[in-house]
Amino acid sequence: MAGMPAMDHAAMDHGASASMPAADSLGLPRGLPLPALSRLQNHGRAGQFVGRLQAAPVSLPLLPGKPATTFWAYNGQIPGPAIVAWEGDEVNIAFANTLQQPSTIHWHGMPVPAEQDGNPHAPVLPGQQRTYRFELAAGSAASYWYHPHPHGHTAQQAYMGLAGVFVVKSHDDPLAHLPEQWLVLSDLKLDAHGQIADNSAADRHDGREGQFLLVNGGWQPVIALAEGERQRWRIWNASSARILKLALPAHEVDLVGTDGGLIATPRRIDSLLLSPGERAEIVITGRFTPGQPSALLALPYHRGKAMSPEQDDSLTLATIRQAGNKATATLPDKLRDITPLGAPALKRVVNFSENMADPAAMFLINGKKFDMNRVDFSGKVGQIEEWDIVSQAHMDHPFHLHGTQFQVQARTEDGVWQTEPFLAWRDVVNIPAGETVRLRFVQGMPGLRMFHCHILEHEDAGMMAMLDVGS
Ligand code: C2O
Ligand code: CU
Ligand code: CU
Repeated sequence: MAGMPAMDHAAMDHGASASMPAADSLGLPRGLPLPALSRLQNHGRAGQFVGRLQAAPVSLPLLPGKPATTFWAYNGQIPGPAIVAWEGDEVNIAFANTLQQPSTIHWHGMPVPAEQDGNPHAPVLPGQQRTYRFELAAGSAASYWYHPHPHGHTAQQAYMGLAGVFVVKSHDDPLAHLPEQWLVLSDLKLDAHGQIADNSAADRHDGREGQFLLVNGGWQPVIALAEGERQRWRIWNASSARILKLALPAHEVDLVGTDGGLIATPRRIDSLLLSPGERAEIVITGRFTPGQPSALLALPYHRGKAMSPEQDDSLTLATIRQAGNKATATLPDKLRDITPLGAPALKRVVNFSENMADPAAMFLINGKKFDMNRVDFSGKVGQIEEWDIVSQAHMDHPFHLHGTQFQVQARTEDGVWQTEPFLAWRDVVNIPAGETVRLRFVQGMPGLRMFHCHILEHEDAGMMAMLDVGS
C-alpha cells in the first residue's frame, strides 16, 4: 500500500470507493460484550508511570474465514493499550518505531512540554526509539488520548490502528464512587479482502469513513446496565472524520466532563455532539423504557448545508442490556471549580477555508497551507489570548489546539452570536460550516504548538498552523 506509485493510487481509489463492500457482507461479528481495553503496564515506582510503546504492523484475525487483517498497532493492541496514571505522576514512555515511515506520539490534550508533544518537527524515524517525559500537573485529571503526528502520515497511521487512551486520575474525584465504562469510538474501512482500505479521493475531501463504527474495537457491542444504576462513561471520538451526534434514548444522561476534565456541575442532555478528537464524560442512569431503543446511537447530523448527512438513519453504536435493578448512587451537584479566563491581552482571527479548485492546497488556515518552517502566530507564556475561529468553509471542521485547554466564550448559530451556556475546558471544538466560535486560552509552557482541523485527512492536507509561545 505504502509503496504504490501515485498514478496507480488514484486509479485504484475510484474502484475502491465505488466498491467498498457493505458492512453486512463482510461477516464481522457483532453483538458481543463490550471489549475491555488492555492496560499499559506500569514499570515505575509510586509517583511514576514508566512504560513502553512499540508501533508495528500486526495481523489480527478479524473476519471469520478470511485471512487475518493487517493493522499498525501499539504493542499489538487495537485500540492501543490504555495508560492510566495519576495527577503528579512523572511519566516516562519509551517509544520504538518499527514502521516503514517516520512517526511520533502526540499526547492529545495533555499539558506536556512542546518538545515532548510528538510534534511533526521531532519525527522518530523507522527503526529508531525515543523517550517521552513529562509530569502530570495538579488539576490535569481528564480523558486524553495518544496518536501519531508525523508530517503527512497522521491520517494513515491513525486509521491503520495507532491510537490509545490516556486517563489521568485525581485522588480528589467527586465521581470516584461510580463504576466506569470507557468507550473508544473508531472507524474501520475494509476492502473486499478484509484488509484496511486505502483512502479514496472522496475520503481525502470529506474525511475518511468506514463501514464500521467500532466501540473498543468491537462492532455493536453490548453494555450491561441495571435499572436505576449510575455509570460514568468516558467517550472518545477517535475516528478520522466523523462528527457524531450521540444519544442514549430511554436513559437519563448528564454531561459531567469535557476534553479537559470535569465541568462545574452536571448538565442533563438529550444528545452530545462529539467531533473527531473530542472526548466527553457522561453519567448514565439506567431507565429501561418500554418502546424506546436501549442503545448508544449516532443520530443523523448534517456537517454543512451543502453536504449530505453522515447517514440518513440513526446508527447503533452499542446496545444496552438490562442487568437487574440497582439502587441509584448519588450524583454530586458540584464537581469542581472552573475559573473563567479573564480579558484577553490579544485577539486573533483564524479562518478555515477550502479551495476545491487547487488540489495541492485544498484546506487552508488564514489562506495558507501548513508549512513546517513557517510560524503563523507568536504568543507568550501566561498571556490570555482570544481567538475567533471563522469558517468560510462549506463543511464543518473541528478545531484543535495543542499544549493547553481552552474555554469557548460564544458561538454563532446561523450567524447570530450565542453566549456559551457553561464553562468547560476543551481542546477540540467543532466549527460548523459558515459559523464562528470564540475561545480563550493561556499557554503555560514555551515552544511550538500546532493547531489544526482534527479531520485527519485535512490536517495532512495542510489545514494546520503553528503558534510559537515565547517564554
Ligand atoms: Cu489529536 Cu494535533 O492532534
Ligand atoms: Cu493534539
Ligand atoms: Cu477539516
